[in-house]
Amino acid sequence: MVEYKVTVFTSNLATGSTFNNIFIKLVGTDGESKQTWLKSLKGALCFIRGSVSCFTVSCPTSIGKLVLIEIDKHSLPLFPEDSWFPAKVEVKSPEGDTYNFPIYRWITDSDVHRFREGTALTILEDNHHLGRYSRQQELKQREEDYRWAVYREGMPHCMKTENPLSLPCEVRFSFTKTTEFLYTASTGLTELGLKGLDRYKESWTDIDDINRVFCCKQTDISDYVQEHWKEDAFFGYQYLNGVNPMLIRRCTALPPNFPVTDDMVFIRGQCSLADEMEKGNIFLCDYKRLDGLKPNIINGKKQYLMAPLILLHKTPVDKLMPIAIQLKQIPADDNPIFLPTDSEYDWLMAKIFVRSADFNEHQLNVHLLRTHLLAEVFAVSLLRNIPMVHPLYKLLVPHTRYTLQINHLARLLLISEAGVFTKFAASGGDMMTILTRSLSSMTYSSLCIPDDIAERGLEAMPNFYYRDDGLKLWDIIHRFVKAILSTHYKTDDEVQQDSELQKWIGDIFEHGFLSQACTGIPQSLTTVTELVKFVTMVIFLGSAQHSAVNTGQYDYGGWMPNTPISLQLPPPTTKGTTSNATMLKTFPDVNTTVQGMATMWLLSKQSSDFVPLGQYPVNHFTEEIPHKIITDFQGELEVLSAIIKARNKSLEVPYTYMDPVVVENSVAI
Ligand code: FE2
Repeated sequence: MVEYKVTVFTSNLATGSTFNNIFIKLVGTDGESKQTWLKSLKGALCFIRGSVSCFTVSCPTSIGKLVLIEIDKHSLPLFPEDSWFPAKVEVKSPEGDTYNFPIYRWITDSDVHRFREGTALTILEDNHHLGRYSRQQELKQREEDYRWAVYREGMPHCMKTENPLSLPCEVRFSFTKTTEFLYTASTGLTELGLKGLDRYKESWTDIDDINRVFCCKQTDISDYVQEHWKEDAFFGYQYLNGVNPMLIRRCTALPPNFPVTDDMVFIRGQCSLADEMEKGNIFLCDYKRLDGLKPNIINGKKQYLMAPLILLHKTPVDKLMPIAIQLKQIPADDNPIFLPTDSEYDWLMAKIFVRSADFNEHQLNVHLLRTHLLAEVFAVSLLRNIPMVHPLYKLLVPHTRYTLQINHLARLLLISEAGVFTKFAASGGDMMTILTRSLSSMTYSSLCIPDDIAERGLEAMPNFYYRDDGLKLWDIIHRFVKAILSTHYKTDDEVQQDSELQKWIGDIFEHGFLSQACTGIPQSLTTVTELVKFVTMVIFLGSAQHSAVNTGQYDYGGWMPNTPISLQLPPPTTKGTTSNATMLKTFPDVNTTVQGMATMWLLSKQSSDFVPLGQYPVNHFTEEIPHKIITDFQGELEVLSAIIKARNKSLEVPYTYMDPVVVENSVAI
């Protein structure tokens, strides 16, 4: 007889204990053990949360190298079936070898569950027939558990689920996350001290009233915003380091529908647009995606959402100043080009319409589509197509945490018929048009920050911290991904022949980008370089990019005049007709304002079980090399964090959203 020493680690999750009986079977290259009941002197306490329990499994002879284990859980006659969350199983063989089996999954039923030994193996590296068979079996089950659904035509496909509880346990929110999320969602208005105002369907009559509402919850940056929101330099700054740094681009020729002249924007003879464009000092923001939408009706009143064009000038002292705003796409007499030299309220109103357009563009295109919905596609494709033993699964699964559930909640609470955006955002009447337009104009290069910055001509833009921090983070993630994947893919052939990998990218192309080849998204992967870049993009989007466009939502949107969720008067059609009263009547009603504030508050709130970028409390890698690579990755992130903190000390408005300690591993809020 030979003995295998089996150690079972139960996770520390609050509800992770089981009092059921646990059985194990060891499967090796030369045979298998009997199904063995794991019992010890600890009795019922063997598998309580945080426990580490040791057992012995005996076999007549050695069963060779261990390939997998089979675990099943049976309830006792008088005890109900419960859910168990084992972290891992370690087995010491009679030959003296130690095998690790990462699990990190809920076992809720009495079926047999198979778990592979932790050595990462692509399908080409997995030579044993048992290993190959178990990959197939696992993926068959996963295809059942994770199904694609169409939420709306023209949008990326999503995870099929009726409600959060019908999601597979392994991707659901933890108890802590659920409690906190529901608490913040249901008490947002109370927490902000705004209860009662959510029923007040009247206009603001004094900006000081907004001030009083807002004073309940402020952040350092929202304070700053309240003080500086009217300033041109701050308006320009937000295109670089606010929550939407994705729209601005260098302008080399004026669009034909934006007839700005030198006389409008420069003191006669001082400089010309042509010269400044040539020097790379002119920038354009074009909200054409918002053109011609069906307006929302809020509190029985028609709302207004513009599709503005904005020209900005980088001054000799490196300030980015707006110099011309046209609020509608087609030039006309009743669509004036507003200028900083116009009356105070004409110019301010033009900027307010731009900021409101930016709220809608940011939330739907930049935030929802380009981070949340894509992250869900990457996650579902991973869970359907890549088995746990694959290095890509081990690398990416921590970056999918909570994404399926938060997106289900976003569809339910924000963009459904009764959702907050549908009811209270200017675009609420026609969100799907914005989303489908956004998807059809999305390109692969715009999702990869180095290409995106180059394409938008922003390499030399001063004070552009989103770019500075983002490019550094991209490089760090790229080095990490390359180090992990190049230990498995030595040649391009190995990438091409990995059928699981090809299925993963194929599903992303089909379900995420609706098979539109013009997006430039690869339909298959042909080289190691291409694979590394794509996986870098997947991690960057779900972590750094999401943080850049999510974390500052209350900072920049809490003070409503800076980012109105909707506007309820049309913009001026001639100059010289606006006043403080026009502005107040144009702002959203009190109830709309406070709903917007509470939502921004909820969406910016970090959960207490937040996992920062590069931290892997659930570690699927069991070998030394990936552990060393992870340690190097964490070291680089730490250095970057220190650099960002030092830089921020000298900034009037610190840019913190891409500091690795602020960035979450996955799209989780
Ligand atoms: Fe988000």
